[in-house]
Amino acid sequence: MKPCQYLHYIPCLVSGVLSQQLTYQNTTGTRLRVDNGTYGPPVEEVHYFYDQWPVGFAVSSKGRIFASYFPGNYTYTLGEVVNATAERPYPGPEWNVPPSEISEEWDGILFGSNNDTGFIAVQALYVTPQTDNRPETLWVLDVGRPTVGNTGQMAYARPGGTKLVAISLDNNIVTDVYTFPSSVNYPDASLNDFRFDIRENATEGGQGIVYLSDESAEWRNGIVVLDLGTGESWRHLDLHPSTRGTYGVVPSYQGPGSPYSHFTQGCDGIQLDPTGSILYFSPMTSDYLYSIETRYLKDHSSAVSSQAANNNVKNLGQRGGNANGFEADSNGLIYQGIPEHNAVYVYDPVTLRTETFIRDPRIIWPD
Ligand SMILES: *[C@@H]1O[C@H](CO)[C@@H](O)[C@H](O)[C@H]1NC(C)=O
Ligand SMILES: *[C@@H]1O[C@H](CO)[C@@H](O)[C@H](O)[C@H]1NC(C)=O
Ligand SMILES: *[C@@H]1O[C@H](CO)[C@@H](O)[C@H](O)[C@H]1NC(C)=O
Ligand SMILES: *[C@@H]1O[C@H](CO)[C@@H](O)[C@H](O)[C@H]1NC(C)=O
Ligand SMILES: *[C@@H]1O[C@H](CO)[C@@H](O)[C@H](O)[C@H]1NC(C)=O
Ligand SMILES: *[C@@H]1O[C@H](CO)[C@@H](O)[C@H](O)[C@H]1NC(C)=O
Repeated sequence: MKPCQYLHYIPCLVSGVLSQQLTYQNTTGTRLRVDNGTYGPPVEEVHYFYDQWPVGFAVSSKGRIFASYFPGNYTYTLGEVVNATAERPYPGPEWNVPPSEISEEWDGILFGSNNDTGFIAVQALYVTPQTDNRPETLWVLDVGRPTVGNTGQMAYARPGGTKLVAISLDNNIVTDVYTFPSSVNYPDASLNDFRFDIRENATEGGQGIVYLSDESAEWRNGIVVLDLGTGESWRHLDLHPSTRGTYGVVPSYQGPGSPYSHFTQGCDGIQLDPTGSILYFSPMTSDYLYSIETRYLKDHSSAVSSQAANNNVKNLGQRGGNANGFEADSNGLIYQGIPEHNAVYVYDPVTLRTETFIRDPRIIWPD
């Protein structure tokens, strides 16, 4: 008699006695391998989205929840949750560029608006705590490249449209707007996520530094660095294999559905370790996790800075799936959204392993 394992339809031994015919509907007392779809701590349902599909979130120290909405034809692109089922435009109507004004066509080429005092296509959000220099702040990354119309065509970026906007959470007033030159944020760049090191020793000026991933589906991927004190920005790891989506990837989401096709997107998830000295990152369509010491990204002073950064990327190995958004905790664990597995995996820099943190059928496109 076979021990009970995979073959549920063949009589087998359970605790030394012949079991009954077993089915997936009744697994009582069996050792059948059943994928119930869940693993890890329970999922708490916080908010339901009805009219606009969210892409980014941030939560303030007081529990205020902010959400961003990327596709360009929504009525607003940055919102604050007001109750369990509704949101409202944030910070207010004066920052809301109507869908008719977020793009325009020149010579048959679609460009995003260059409006630097209105939101066009907000992707990522991040809250930094209060410091001596700054109140608790909501940082808003406007990609400036809306997807337009029924074709979902992505407009090209113009300087001003792509921007980082700081909003004081004390009074909901915009305090700073940082824009990028087209030599740093190319028209086909697509800044996707960002992380802050706002400790005083992070930069010479003491205002802090920001690392941003360029996920561009046009594949000129890299990492953008912005000095919050000087407003200067620069690129590193341009076209480096660690920032580009792997060629020929055919990912599978939620099992069967629309026809499978190739999908290639570059550097997406990005996260600092607790000391700000290591940046972890991964392309959207890749199974590999990478890291680099941030001193190589901060340095753009000499002719060899760019090569030194390229030479010092570490490949931390595969994790068993493509990843998008990252998060971290004070233990230095790096959490990674794994859309192919409806899961969040976690990399531990002590064991050097990535393991499952949580899995749940309700986790669709964790980001
Ligand atoms: C499920 O299987 C167990 C063990 O084989 C059996 O005792 C029980 O009656 C079954 N329950 C149902 C609802 O069939
Ligand atoms: C689902 O399976 C996992 C892994 O085997 C197990 O830890 C968990 O308790 C199961 N959950 C339920 C609700 O049965
Ligand atoms: C949530 O807020 C919306 C918009 O203000 C309102 O229409 C709705 O009734 C509220 N729902 C609840 C349960 O309070
Ligand atoms: C930018 O967008 C805002 C919000 O719609 C609007 O008030 C402002 O006039 C726009 N600026 C320009 C230069 O179009
Ligand atoms: C937005 O785009 C979707 C899909 O491209 C389309 O179905 C919808 O009608 C558009 N909505 C508006 C308000 O333009
Ligand atoms: C900044 O100071 C912290 C301790 O306060 C230290 O952990 C960190 O390594 C320092 N960073 C740099 C870039 O010197």
